[in-house]
Amino acid sequence: MRRFGTQGRVYPDRHYVVSRTEEIADFIHRLKDGRYVVLFAPRQTGKTTFFRLALDTLIATSSIYFPIQLNFEAYKNLSVPDFYAAFYKRVRKEIEKVFQKREQLPDETLASFLNDAKFTNHISMMEFFEQFDDFLESQHSGEKVILIIDEFDGIPQTVLGDFLHSLRDIYLSDERRCPHSVGIVGVKSIAQLNYDRSVSPFNIQDEFHLPNFTHQQVQELFGQYTDEVRQTFAPEVIRALHRQTAGQPFLVNRFAQILTEELDIPRTKTITMAHFVKAHTMLLEEENVNLTHLLTNIRRDPRFENLLMRIVSYQRGVQFNLRNVSLKKVYGLESLGTSLIC
Ligand SMILES: Nc1ncnc2c1ncn2[C@@H]1O[C@H](COP(=O)(O)OP(=O)(O)O)[C@@H](O)[C@H]1O
Ligand SMILES: [Mg+2]
Repeated sequence: MRRFGTQGRVYPDRHYVVSRTEEIADFIHRLKDGRYVVLFAPRQTGKTTFFRLALDTLIATSSIYFPIQLNFEAYKNLSVPDFYAAFYKRVRKEIEKVFQKREQLPDETLASFLNDAKFTNHISMMEFFEQFDDFLESQHSGEKVILIIDEFDGIPQTVLGDFLHSLRDIYLSDERRCPHSVGIVGVKSIAQLNYDRSVSPFNIQDEFHLPNFTHQQVQELFGQYTDEVRQTFAPEVIRALHRQTAGQPFLVNRFAQILTEELDIPRTKTITMAHFVKAHTMLLEEENVNLTHLLTNIRRDPRFENLLMRIVSYQRGVQFNLRNVSLKKVYGLESLGTSLIC
Protein backbone atom coordinates (compact mmCIF):
# COMPACT_ATOMS: atom_id res chain seq x y z
CA MET A 1 0.00 0.00 0.00
CA ARG A 2 1.21 3.48 -0.80
CA ARG A 3 1.18 6.36 1.70
CA PHE A 4 1.11 10.13 1.78
CA GLY A 5 4.75 11.25 1.89
CA THR A 6 6.12 14.17 3.87
CA GLN A 7 9.82 13.37 4.08
CA GLY A 8 11.25 15.11 1.05
CA ARG A 9 10.76 13.94 -2.49
CA VAL A 10 7.82 11.61 -3.16
CA TYR A 11 8.04 8.49 -5.34
CA PRO A 12 5.05 7.18 -7.34
CA ASP A 13 5.67 3.56 -6.31
CA ARG A 14 5.62 4.36 -2.59
CA HIS A 15 3.53 7.50 -2.29
CA TYR A 16 0.41 9.13 -3.63
CA VAL A 17 1.67 11.66 -6.13
CA VAL A 18 0.07 14.56 -7.97
CA SER A 19 1.11 13.94 -11.56
CA ARG A 20 1.41 17.64 -12.48
CA THR A 21 1.15 16.54 -16.10
CA GLU A 22 0.60 19.98 -17.59
CA GLU A 23 3.38 21.64 -15.64
CA ILE A 24 5.72 18.78 -16.55
CA ALA A 25 4.86 19.09 -20.24
CA ASP A 26 5.64 22.81 -20.06
CA PHE A 27 8.97 22.21 -18.29
CA ILE A 28 10.00 19.48 -20.76
CA HIS A 29 9.11 21.70 -23.66
CA ARG A 30 11.49 24.35 -22.33
CA LEU A 31 14.31 21.82 -21.86
CA LYS A 32 13.87 20.46 -25.36
CA ASP A 33 13.88 24.00 -26.65
CA GLY A 34 17.33 24.47 -25.12
CA ARG A 35 16.32 27.02 -22.52
CA TYR A 36 18.25 27.71 -19.34
CA VAL A 37 15.43 27.47 -16.84
CA VAL A 38 15.42 28.58 -13.22
CA LEU A 39 12.94 27.22 -10.72
CA PHE A 40 13.03 29.08 -7.44
CA ALA A 41 10.39 28.46 -4.80
CA PRO A 42 10.18 28.07 -1.02
CA ARG A 43 11.06 24.82 0.72
CA GLN A 44 8.69 21.87 0.55
CA THR A 45 6.80 23.08 -2.46
CA GLY A 46 7.69 20.04 -4.56
CA LYS A 47 10.62 21.30 -6.63
CA THR A 48 12.77 18.18 -6.37
CA THR A 49 9.86 15.81 -6.94
CA PHE A 50 8.78 17.88 -9.90
CA PHE A 51 11.98 18.06 -11.88
CA ARG A 52 12.75 14.39 -11.18
CA LEU A 53 9.35 13.39 -12.53
CA ALA A 54 9.94 15.65 -15.51
CA LEU A 55 13.33 14.10 -16.27
CA ASP A 56 11.95 10.57 -15.89
CA THR A 57 9.19 11.44 -18.34
CA LEU A 58 11.62 13.01 -20.77
CA ILE A 59 13.99 10.04 -20.71
CA ALA A 60 11.16 7.54 -21.04
CA THR A 61 9.86 9.26 -24.15
CA SER A 62 13.06 10.26 -25.89
CA SER A 63 16.55 8.81 -26.03
CA ILE A 64 18.25 11.86 -27.47
CA TYR A 65 18.84 13.52 -24.12
CA PHE A 66 21.67 12.88 -21.73
CA PRO A 67 20.65 13.98 -18.22
CA ILE A 68 23.18 15.05 -15.60
CA GLN A 69 21.57 15.72 -12.21
CA LEU A 70 23.52 17.45 -9.48
CA ASN A 71 22.89 18.83 -6.03
CA PHE A 72 24.98 21.64 -4.56
CA GLU A 73 23.64 21.35 -1.03
CA ALA A 74 26.91 20.26 0.57
CA TYR A 75 29.20 22.63 -1.31
CA LYS A 76 28.62 25.91 0.51
CA ASN A 77 32.00 26.24 2.23
CA LEU A 78 34.29 24.77 -0.41
CA SER A 79 37.15 26.70 -2.01
CA VAL A 80 37.00 27.19 -5.77
CA PRO A 81 39.25 24.20 -6.65
CA ASP A 82 37.55 21.95 -4.09
CA PHE A 83 34.15 22.91 -5.43
CA TYR A 84 35.14 22.06 -9.00
CA ALA A 85 36.78 18.79 -7.89
CA ALA A 86 33.59 17.74 -6.06
CA PHE A 87 31.49 18.94 -8.98
CA TYR A 88 33.48 16.86 -11.45
CA LYS A 89 33.27 13.74 -9.29
CA ARG A 90 29.48 13.99 -9.36
CA VAL A 91 29.32 14.76 -13.07
CA ARG A 92 31.39 11.67 -13.78
CA LYS A 93 29.22 9.49 -11.51
CA GLU A 94 26.09 10.78 -13.23
CA ILE A 95 27.52 10.07 -16.68
CA GLU A 96 28.40 6.53 -15.62
CA LYS A 97 24.92 6.11 -14.15
CA VAL A 98 23.33 6.96 -17.49
CA PHE A 99 25.44 4.29 -19.17
CA GLN A 100 24.55 1.75 -16.49
CA LYS A 101 20.86 2.48 -16.91
CA ARG A 102 21.21 1.88 -20.61
CA GLU A 103 23.12 -1.30 -19.84
CA GLN A 104 26.09 -0.03 -21.79
CA LEU A 105 29.70 0.53 -20.85
CA PRO A 106 31.46 3.74 -21.80
CA ASP A 107 33.84 2.73 -24.58
CA GLU A 108 37.59 3.02 -24.09
CA THR A 109 37.95 6.52 -25.49
CA LEU A 110 35.27 7.88 -23.23
CA ALA A 111 36.46 5.90 -20.24
CA SER A 112 39.96 7.31 -20.53
CA PHE A 113 38.61 10.80 -21.24
CA LEU A 114 36.55 10.61 -18.04
CA ASN A 115 39.53 9.24 -16.14
CA ASP A 116 41.87 12.00 -17.21
CA ALA A 117 39.44 14.89 -17.02
CA LYS A 118 39.69 17.32 -14.17
CA PHE A 119 37.89 20.54 -13.40
CA THR A 120 39.82 23.11 -11.45
CA ASN A 121 37.87 26.16 -12.50
CA HIS A 122 35.09 27.35 -14.79
CA ILE A 123 37.32 27.31 -17.87
CA SER A 124 38.18 23.64 -17.52
CA MET A 125 34.51 22.95 -16.82
CA MET A 126 33.57 24.58 -20.13
CA GLU A 127 36.27 22.67 -21.96
CA PHE A 128 35.08 19.42 -20.44
CA PHE A 129 31.52 19.94 -21.63
CA GLU A 130 32.74 20.90 -25.08
CA GLN A 131 34.80 17.72 -25.37
CA PHE A 132 32.10 15.54 -23.91
CA ASP A 133 29.71 16.93 -26.47
CA ASP A 134 32.17 16.21 -29.30
CA PHE A 135 32.31 12.68 -28.00
CA LEU A 136 28.53 12.32 -27.95
CA GLU A 137 28.36 13.68 -31.47
CA SER A 138 31.04 11.49 -32.95
CA GLN A 139 30.61 8.22 -31.07
CA HIS A 140 26.94 8.27 -30.17
CA SER A 141 23.74 9.50 -31.66
CA GLY A 142 24.50 13.08 -30.68
CA GLU A 143 22.50 13.09 -27.47
CA LYS A 144 22.03 16.49 -25.93
CA VAL A 145 23.14 17.09 -22.36
CA ILE A 146 20.59 18.38 -19.91
CA LEU A 147 22.14 19.64 -16.71
CA ILE A 148 19.90 20.02 -13.68
CA ILE A 149 21.27 21.46 -10.45
CA ASP A 150 19.15 21.10 -7.32
CA GLU A 151 19.83 23.14 -4.14
CA PHE A 152 21.70 25.66 -6.24
CA ASP A 153 21.85 27.99 -3.22
CA GLY A 154 24.71 25.82 -1.91
CA ILE A 155 27.07 27.19 -4.56
CA PRO A 156 30.03 28.93 -2.87
CA GLN A 157 29.88 32.70 -3.18
CA THR A 158 33.38 32.72 -4.72
CA VAL A 159 32.27 30.39 -7.52
CA LEU A 160 28.92 31.91 -8.40
CA GLY A 161 29.90 34.77 -10.73
CA ASP A 162 32.28 32.85 -12.99
CA PHE A 163 30.00 29.84 -12.99
CA LEU A 164 27.04 31.84 -14.25
CA HIS A 165 29.22 33.68 -16.75
CA SER A 166 30.34 30.36 -18.17
CA LEU A 167 26.79 29.14 -18.54
CA ARG A 168 25.92 32.35 -20.27
CA ASP A 169 28.87 32.00 -22.66
CA ILE A 170 27.80 28.49 -23.51
CA TYR A 171 24.19 29.57 -23.98
CA LEU A 172 25.15 32.38 -26.31
CA SER A 173 27.59 30.38 -28.41
CA ASP A 174 26.53 29.76 -31.98
CA GLU A 175 27.57 26.16 -32.07
CA ARG A 176 25.81 23.11 -30.75
CA ARG A 177 25.63 23.82 -27.04
CA CYS A 178 26.68 21.62 -24.18
CA PRO A 179 24.75 21.65 -21.91
CA HIS A 180 21.91 21.97 -24.39
CA SER A 181 19.67 23.09 -21.55
CA VAL A 182 20.11 23.79 -17.86
CA GLY A 183 17.70 23.69 -14.95
CA ILE A 184 18.66 25.57 -11.81
CA VAL A 185 16.55 24.76 -8.78
CA GLY A 186 16.70 26.53 -5.44
CA VAL A 187 15.09 28.54 -2.71
CA LYS A 188 16.71 31.90 -3.29
CA SER A 189 16.60 33.56 -6.65
CA ILE A 190 19.87 34.35 -8.37
CA ALA A 191 19.39 38.02 -7.48
CA GLN A 192 19.14 37.06 -3.81
CA LEU A 193 22.32 35.03 -3.97
CA ASN A 194 24.06 38.40 -3.63
CA TYR A 195 25.59 38.41 -7.01
CA ASP A 196 26.65 41.74 -8.43
CA ARG A 197 23.65 42.35 -10.69
CA SER A 198 25.39 44.98 -12.78
CA VAL A 199 27.05 42.23 -14.81
CA SER A 200 23.82 40.33 -15.09
CA PRO A 201 25.30 37.10 -16.42
CA PHE A 202 22.10 35.21 -16.16
CA ASN A 203 19.77 37.48 -18.02
CA ILE A 204 19.30 34.52 -20.30
CA GLN A 205 17.26 32.78 -17.64
CA ASP A 206 13.79 31.50 -18.20
CA GLU A 207 11.84 31.52 -14.96
CA PHE A 208 9.56 28.62 -14.27
CA HIS A 209 6.77 29.06 -11.76
CA LEU A 210 5.73 25.93 -9.90
CA PRO A 211 2.30 26.64 -8.45
CA ASN A 212 0.76 25.10 -5.35
CA PHE A 213 -1.79 22.34 -5.93
CA THR A 214 -5.13 23.33 -7.35
CA HIS A 215 -8.35 22.00 -5.83
CA GLN A 216 -8.46 19.48 -8.65
CA GLN A 217 -4.93 18.29 -7.95
CA VAL A 218 -5.79 17.77 -4.27
CA GLN A 219 -8.78 15.74 -5.44
CA GLU A 220 -6.47 13.74 -7.71
CA LEU A 221 -4.17 13.00 -4.75
CA PHE A 222 -6.92 11.95 -2.36
CA GLY A 223 -8.62 10.00 -5.13
CA GLN A 224 -5.55 7.75 -5.36
CA TYR A 225 -5.92 6.92 -1.66
CA THR A 226 -9.65 6.28 -2.01
CA ASP A 227 -9.06 4.00 -5.01
CA GLU A 228 -6.54 1.93 -3.06
CA VAL A 229 -8.08 1.90 0.42
CA ARG A 230 -11.75 2.45 -0.46
CA GLN A 231 -12.15 5.09 2.22
CA THR A 232 -13.91 8.24 1.04
CA PHE A 233 -13.71 11.92 1.99
CA ALA A 234 -16.69 14.21 2.21
CA PRO A 235 -16.26 16.72 -0.65
CA GLU A 236 -16.26 19.65 1.80
CA VAL A 237 -13.21 18.15 3.54
CA ILE A 238 -11.18 18.38 0.34
CA ARG A 239 -12.44 21.91 -0.27
CA ALA A 240 -11.61 23.07 3.27
CA LEU A 241 -8.25 21.38 3.18
CA HIS A 242 -7.36 23.04 -0.09
CA ARG A 243 -8.47 26.41 1.21
CA GLN A 244 -6.65 26.17 4.53
CA THR A 245 -3.34 25.02 3.06
CA ALA A 246 -3.57 27.13 -0.09
CA GLY A 247 -2.61 23.86 -1.83
CA GLN A 248 0.91 23.96 -0.36
CA PRO A 249 2.19 20.46 -1.24
CA PHE A 250 3.74 19.53 2.11
CA LEU A 251 0.83 20.82 4.17
CA VAL A 252 -1.68 18.99 1.98
CA ASN A 253 0.16 15.72 2.56
CA ARG A 254 0.68 16.30 6.26
CA PHE A 255 -3.05 16.97 6.64
CA ALA A 256 -3.75 13.76 4.73
CA GLN A 257 -1.36 11.80 6.92
CA ILE A 258 -3.10 12.92 10.09
CA LEU A 259 -6.52 12.13 8.62
CA THR A 260 -5.61 8.71 7.28
CA GLU A 261 -3.03 7.43 9.76
CA GLU A 262 -3.16 9.30 13.04
CA LEU A 263 -6.81 9.86 13.94
CA ASP A 264 -7.64 6.15 13.94
CA ILE A 265 -10.74 6.63 11.84
CA PRO A 266 -12.07 3.20 10.80
CA ARG A 267 -11.49 2.70 7.09
CA THR A 268 -15.13 1.88 6.56
CA LYS A 269 -16.12 5.41 7.60
CA THR A 270 -16.17 8.51 5.44
CA ILE A 271 -13.79 11.25 6.61
CA THR A 272 -15.91 14.23 7.58
CA MET A 273 -15.58 17.87 8.64
CA ALA A 274 -15.49 16.83 12.31
CA HIS A 275 -12.32 14.85 11.57
CA PHE A 276 -10.99 17.74 9.53
CA VAL A 277 -11.32 20.15 12.45
CA LYS A 278 -9.39 17.78 14.71
CA ALA A 279 -6.64 17.35 12.15
CA HIS A 280 -6.45 21.11 11.66
CA THR A 281 -5.85 21.67 15.38
CA MET A 282 -3.20 18.94 15.47
CA LEU A 283 -1.41 20.41 12.50
CA LEU A 284 -1.31 23.85 14.06
CA GLU A 285 0.01 22.53 17.34
CA GLU A 286 2.82 20.36 16.07
CA GLU A 287 6.38 21.36 15.18
CA ASN A 288 6.20 22.41 11.60
CA VAL A 289 9.03 23.92 9.65
CA ASN A 290 6.65 26.12 7.67
CA LEU A 291 5.09 27.69 10.71
CA THR A 292 8.34 27.81 12.70
CA HIS A 293 9.96 29.88 9.97
CA LEU A 294 7.05 32.26 10.01
CA LEU A 295 7.38 32.67 13.77
CA THR A 296 11.14 33.19 13.52
CA ASN A 297 10.54 35.91 10.97
CA ILE A 298 7.92 37.56 13.12
CA ARG A 299 10.26 37.60 16.11
CA ARG A 300 13.11 38.96 14.03
CA ASP A 301 11.29 41.83 12.45
CA PRO A 302 8.05 43.43 13.66
CA ARG A 303 7.17 44.39 10.08
CA PHE A 304 6.41 40.74 9.39
CA GLU A 305 4.00 40.58 12.27
CA ASN A 306 2.25 43.66 10.99
CA LEU A 307 1.98 42.26 7.53
CA LEU A 308 0.79 38.86 8.67
CA MET A 309 -1.78 40.37 11.00
CA ARG A 310 -3.14 42.37 8.09
CA ILE A 311 -3.32 39.22 5.99
CA VAL A 312 -5.05 37.10 8.61
CA SER A 313 -7.44 39.78 9.80
CA TYR A 314 -9.04 39.66 6.33
CA GLN A 315 -10.39 43.19 6.76
CA ARG A 316 -8.88 44.75 3.75
CA GLY A 317 -6.68 41.98 2.36
CA VAL A 318 -3.11 42.57 1.20
CA GLN A 319 -2.41 42.55 -2.47
CA PHE A 320 0.07 39.82 -3.32
CA ASN A 321 2.93 41.68 -4.87
CA LEU A 322 6.47 40.37 -4.76
CA ARG A 323 7.85 43.90 -5.09
CA ASN A 324 6.71 44.34 -1.50
CA VAL A 325 9.96 43.39 0.26
CA SER A 326 8.32 42.12 3.46
CA LEU A 327 5.82 40.06 1.56
CA LYS A 328 8.59 38.67 -0.60
CA LYS A 329 10.60 37.68 2.47
CA VAL A 330 7.67 36.03 4.13
CA TYR A 331 6.85 34.22 0.92
CA GLY A 332 10.44 33.47 -0.04
CA LEU A 333 11.35 31.95 3.28
CA GLU A 334 7.98 30.46 3.69
CA SER A 335 5.18 29.30 1.53
CA LEU A 336 1.72 30.07 2.64
CA GLY A 337 1.42 28.83 6.16
CA THR A 338 -0.45 32.07 6.66
CA SER A 339 -3.85 30.74 5.76
CA LEU A 340 -3.40 28.06 8.37
CA ILE A 341 -3.09 30.60 11.12
CA CYS A 342 -6.57 32.00 10.70
N1 LIG B 1 3.88 15.79 -6.97
C1 LIG B 1 3.63 15.68 -5.67
N2 LIG B 1 2.59 14.93 -5.24
C2 LIG B 1 2.30 14.80 -3.93
N3 LIG B 1 2.99 15.42 -2.97
C3 LIG B 1 4.03 16.20 -3.31
C4 LIG B 1 4.41 16.35 -4.68
N4 LIG B 1 5.47 17.18 -4.72
C5 LIG B 1 5.72 17.52 -3.45
N5 LIG B 1 4.89 16.94 -2.58
C6 LIG B 1 4.87 17.14 -1.12
O1 LIG B 1 5.81 18.15 -0.78
C7 LIG B 1 6.88 17.63 0.01
C8 LIG B 1 8.19 18.24 -0.42
O2 LIG B 1 8.52 17.82 -1.73
P1 LIG B 1 9.97 18.11 -2.35
O3 LIG B 1 9.94 17.67 -3.76
O4 LIG B 1 11.05 17.56 -1.46
O5 LIG B 1 9.99 19.72 -2.28
P2 LIG B 1 11.21 20.76 -2.34
O6 LIG B 1 12.27 20.17 -3.21
O7 LIG B 1 10.58 22.00 -2.92
O8 LIG B 1 11.65 20.98 -0.92
C9 LIG B 1 6.80 16.12 -0.16
O9 LIG B 1 7.31 15.44 0.98
C10 LIG B 1 5.30 15.92 -0.31
O10 LIG B 1 4.67 16.01 0.96
MG1 LIG C 1 14.27 19.77 -2.79
